[in-house]
Amino acid sequence: MSARAVCRLADLKEKEARGCSLELDDGSELQLIVVREGSEVFVYRNRCPHTGVNLEWQPHQFYDLSGAFLQCATHGALFRPEDGYCVRGPCAGESLEAVPVWILEGQVVVIT
Ligand code: FES
Repeated sequence: MSARAVCRLADLKEKEARGCSLELDDGSELQLIVVREGSEVFVYRNRCPHTGVNLEWQPHQFYDLSGAFLQCATHGALFRPEDGYCVRGPCAGESLEAVPVWILEGQVVVIT
């Protein structure tokens, strides 16, 4: 396991989500969604529990039009930003895979 900085907290606005990818030690790529809700930051694997595809419809476009949920662009599933729980869609009742996150010296840091 290793701690990796994915972005600066100051670069994330309220209700903003960003996609990023990390190269792991084994050479594989880990794609993540970094979400800021108020003073909190949540990180999930960018992988719909329904089929495993990435959620965004354009780079960094994860929120639905209401701004209340993260949305899978492929079939429209809606996920709560604060816990990744799917409230509507083909994967209702499932959740995005959360990734442990800390804020250290202004950096958003995940454990991979
Ligand atoms: S692939 Fe995500 S809701 Fe269908």
